[in-house]
Amino acid sequence: MKFGVNHSNLYLTAMETDSDKILEDVKNALGEVATRSHFEAVKAKFLGTNGVFRELVKNIAALPKEKKPAAGQAINICKGEIEKIFEAKLAEIEIGEARASLGDVPDPSLSSGGGEIFCHPLRKIRSHTIEIFSKLGFSVADGSEIETEWFCFDALNTPQSHPSRNESDTFYFRENVSLGNVSKNGDERYVLRTHTSTVQIRTMLHSKPPIRILSPGRVFRKDTMDATHSPIFHQCEGLVVEEGTSVCDLKATLDFFFTELIGEGCETRMRPSFFPFVSPGFEVDFRSKNIGKLSNRWIEIGGCGMVAPNVFKNCGYESGSVTGFAFGVGLERLAMLLYGIDDIRLFFQNDTRFLKQFSMPML
Ligand code: PHE
Repeated sequence: MKFGVNHSNLYLTAMETDSDKILEDVKNALGEVATRSHFEAVKAKFLGTNGVFRELVKNIAALPKEKKPAAGQAINICKGEIEKIFEAKLAEIEIGEARASLGDVPDPSLSSGGGEIFCHPLRKIRSHTIEIFSKLGFSVADGSEIETEWFCFDALNTPQSHPSRNESDTFYFRENVSLGNVSKNGDERYVLRTHTSTVQIRTMLHSKPPIRILSPGRVFRKDTMDATHSPIFHQCEGLVVEEGTSVCDLKATLDFFFTELIGEGCETRMRPSFFPFVSPGFEVDFRSKNIGKLSNRWIEIGGCGMVAPNVFKNCGYESGSVTGFAFGVGLERLAMLLYGIDDIRLFFQNDTRFLKQFSMPML
């Protein structure tokens, strides 16, 4: 096994040989292990304070200074490999333990719930959406449902005066609330995120282009619940950041999605609109020949646009160095149109008579 180090360097070649040997020894020693206690003993022998690996690390101290970084790197890679082997073995032992505690034959007496496995329509539309975008190379990115004002608004170029920031539209936490796992600056407040556009920011802050992500998730707005409104709903936002992207790419992406979702003959259109974080910005509508009563009518389904320069700037991207587009659709709305659901409240009532009408998606 090689660890990508310089082979002309005699010392490192020796280190590789040591590393190879340890890996071999670990595999051999674990080959005989069947119990957790034996596993722990072997683990201590190799990775413990007085373990074999520790010896290898100590050898680095004797090296000339300029050789230390490369040797350290080789050792770290070796350690990673060893840890993976131990993890895999532990998983194997745990499965064995679980099997042993269940007995040889699985107990069939638990009811399966009476037949067909069903799937919540929101989960179904979410899976379907992800599946379609994965064909275009998108992966799923997650964010926090509790956000800071900066992530939800400021970083997305949304000024203090924007109506979406009103207390009457957004759920704010009390000022003295502090949450260990979502850090915030000074006196800004926490909010329940009003859109999944926050994930654009979280993603761009820690990764460089090319980026193709999809961020499905729950969002919150102060709306009174009725047949078409809910204070909790789900969005799926997409973000692409790559060199030379244009509105044409955005349109083609939307066309692809809706045609895959609804079928041939489905059209999309973009109407100029304003969202602070995109420029230009558009509303997205689609029209299809075969969606029952709504056939052949333009239906508004979301927003989209080219990522605004200020958003890139807030994420630390150099001005003019990248281009990108974003779009967002409401998942309840999509599911309602596609599955013929006429009341948004049904999604949240968990009435099995409703849920049973939706079968598992093909995964
Ligand atoms: N975040 C917008 C909303 O919640 C939708 C949107 C996403 C608009 C991406 C443009 C680009 O309404």
